[in-house]
Order: sequence, then structure tokens, then C-alpha cells
Amino acid sequence: MMTDEQLDNLLAKDEKPPVWILYGTHTGNSEQLAKDTAEEFSKKGVNAHISNMEDFDTNLLSDIRRLLIIVSTDGEGEPPLMAEDLLEYLQSEKAPDLSGLSYSILALGDTTYFDFCQAGKDFDSALEKLGAKRILNRMDCDVDFEENYKEWIDTLLKMETC
Ligand SMILES: Cc1cc2nc3c(=O)[nH]c(=O)nc-3n(C[C@H](O)[C@H](O)[C@H](O)COP(=O)(O)O)c2cc1C
Repeated sequence: MMTDEQLDNLLAKDEKPPVWILYGTHTGNSEQLAKDTAEEFSKKGVNAHISNMEDFDTNLLSDIRRLLIIVSTDGEGEPPLMAEDLLEYLQSEKAPDLSGLSYSILALGDTTYFDFCQAGKDFDSALEKLGAKRILNRMDCDVDFEENYKEWIDTLLKMETC
């Protein structure tokens, strides 16, 4: 018969680290998808933290193990205003080693723009350069993003139960 303490230890070992969801948005699509994503993970019993990129404390980065980024592209291939500082930080000398981090990116954009989903691509290459590992390839979405979002989230949730 297991004691409560032994049971707690066993559960703690099996527990996956929380998922962090960071979003960068201009017109609100990425924010809504980030909220939907947090809800989906919560339904699976996974601890999900959500933050907009502007309010995110970059000191936390080295301690985070699982990160999902949902970001649109604005202007001519630029990140939304609220995502600019985080991207700049990740591309700078100040950024930490992120080899302990697994991540995936959902990039929102519009194929009529020359720099399709450029902000998502820029986050992806910055994280890769810092040693972070992709859990799942970046999903680039056109203006009708629902189907691609569903494919991305369904794959992530399936991986969660493996
Ligand atoms: C002013 C403006 C500029 C945009 N520039 C780009 C761009 O350069 N590349 C791209 O792929 N999409 C571009 N888009 C499309 C948006 O990324 C897309 O509509 C996205 O779904 C918006 O998501 P959000 O609501 O999270 O900002 C632009 C949209 C607007 C309104």
C-alpha cells in the first residue's frame, strides 16, 4: 500500500511542465486563439499560463520548458507593436541559452503580403538560434486560419496524451 507522500511523488514525476502561451496581436485574432489554446490545455488537465508579449517577464524564459507562440505579422513583414521588444530581445546578445526549451509557433498572416507570416518566421529562427527545440513545426496561417489552427492544436493535444 502506497503512502500519500509516495503517491504524490509518483504523480509529480509524471507531471509535464506547464505550457506557456505568448501572443502578439494587432487586431485580436492571436489573442483569441491563445485563449482558446489555454482552455484546450486546461481541459486536458495541463497547467497553461497565458500572457501577451508586452507584459511577459523575459527573466522567466530560462525556467520555462514548454512554450507556444501565437503571433501575427503587421506592417510590411513586421511583428505587431506588442511583440517588437520580445523579438528584439531574442535576437540580441542579451538573450539566454534556451536549449532546455521546447516550442511551437502558430503564425498568422495573409498570403497577399510579400512577407507572409514573417514575424512568426523571425521568432522561429531566433528561438532555434538560442538552442530551443521545436515540438512541432511552425504552422503558417492565411486569413482563414481556423482549419490550420485546428490542425496545430489537435496535433499538440494528441502529443500531450502520448
Ligand atoms: C496593416 C496590416 C498589415 C499586415 N501585414 C502583413 C504582412 O506583412 N504579412 C502577413 O503575412 N500578414 C500581414 N497582415 C495580415 C495579418 O497578420 C492577419 O490579418 C492576422 O490574422 C492578424 O492577426 P492579429 O489579429 O492577431 O493581429 C497585415 C494586416 C494588417 C491589418
